[in-house]
Amino acid sequence: MLVNNWKQNLHLEPRHGWLNDPNGLAYFNGKYHIFHQYSYEVNGGLKHWYYYTSSDLVNYEDKGVFVSPTIAEETHGVYSGSANVENGKLVFYYTGNVKYKGDYDYVHAGRGHNTITFSTEDGINFTEKKCLLTTDDYPNMSNHVRDPKVFEKNGKSYLVLGARDKNDYGCLVIYDKDTLNHYKTIYSEKNLGFMWECPDYFEVDGKEIFIFSPQGISRMYPNFQNMYQIVYSVVEEGIENIEKINNYSLLDYGHDFYAAQTFVDEDGERVLIGWMAVPDSSYTNPTTNFGYQNCLTIPRVVNYRDGKLCQTLHKSVQSLLGEEIKTSEFNEKTWYYKQEDGESFEIIVDDFRLSYLEGELKVDYGTTGYGRDNRKYKLDLENVEIVFDSSSVEIFANDGSFVISNRFYPNNHNVKISANKFVVKKLGVINVREEN
Ligand code: FRU
Repeated sequence: MLVNNWKQNLHLEPRHGWLNDPNGLAYFNGKYHIFHQYSYEVNGGLKHWYYYTSSDLVNYEDKGVFVSPTIAEETHGVYSGSANVENGKLVFYYTGNVKYKGDYDYVHAGRGHNTITFSTEDGINFTEKKCLLTTDDYPNMSNHVRDPKVFEKNGKSYLVLGARDKNDYGCLVIYDKDTLNHYKTIYSEKNLGFMWECPDYFEVDGKEIFIFSPQGISRMYPNFQNMYQIVYSVVEEGIENIEKINNYSLLDYGHDFYAAQTFVDEDGERVLIGWMAVPDSSYTNPTTNFGYQNCLTIPRVVNYRDGKLCQTLHKSVQSLLGEEIKTSEFNEKTWYYKQEDGESFEIIVDDFRLSYLEGELKVDYGTTGYGRDNRKYKLDLENVEIVFDSSSVEIFANDGSFVISNRFYPNNHNVKISANKFVVKKLGVINVREEN
């Protein structure tokens, strides 16, 4: 009998079927609302929003499939979107996907991407869906304009969509949210792919930041080694004045990170959750043998420090830190490693090997990678925190300014550590209560 050694303890993942992007993340009326793209089919298919609520991001209620295609504007999928608290209501914005029947080119014709909204005042009753914008409302665009995010600055509300224009350049299309008039379209100064998915905008530590997931950047060492990427850009000139994206950095250097979204938690911290996978990649996820695939990342706090966006463990994850493990060889699936200096180290889990030596961080997957290529990163290491779960590793180096998120699939979880000074702790389990 096949035994599943890869069931995650710390990460939200489906019991059956397929998970992709986090959607509609919010803290509202004392509760966290976490949705994600979901398909009943293990390799993806018709998309829905799956729903969890939580009071602390440790204990979750599994509400099941929550938003499904019910209106004509979303016949072929309830695609990604976001949530925004407006006048005491939680308002959702997402893309309804339609594929017209016939022999169409699905990029430039034959497809509808509609911006749809609904809302709730109490988190129990939800309004009817209403279509705000349709494909024809997006100026000079291909049929790919999706993943709305609403944000406010100085009392003005904006709605940003990720897009592919008529000439196949990726861009952000921004509307005045209240009038639904087109506000501006933002391109990159240098070509940055053909499509930008899942935009986010937020202010943190006095900086305005865009996050988006561009597709179609040629693969380059040492950055941009993935099929698709996720970048952040600092909007130094402000949303009102920005004309072009003129700076961008990778948000994560791993194989498995995409479509991240942020929200503000109960303490006012900016929290980020990503999809721990990349679309159209050639890597295998062996959990498909057990009828499901993919997970969300752990929640991370986002800050801007010394010119960099930094990601650190959210207090919900810290609260699960358990007793210290006082040996360098053990068998744990879900555990935490911390090193407060930049000395060399090596961590082996079965035949997965993570090491730092002479300015180079190396990740060698062995058989645990299922197609993920080995990677090395030039890095002046100062400190590192690492979160291991049954089938993932999230590395936060240099106060979270250099992050690597990966799935890996060890069978035995035989851990061996060689390092001078380090702390290892057990990590607890999130609790997911099934409501149905
Ligand atoms: C990103 C994405 C989004 C889209 C959704 C569909 O992974 O392609 O652009 O809305 O997934 O599931």
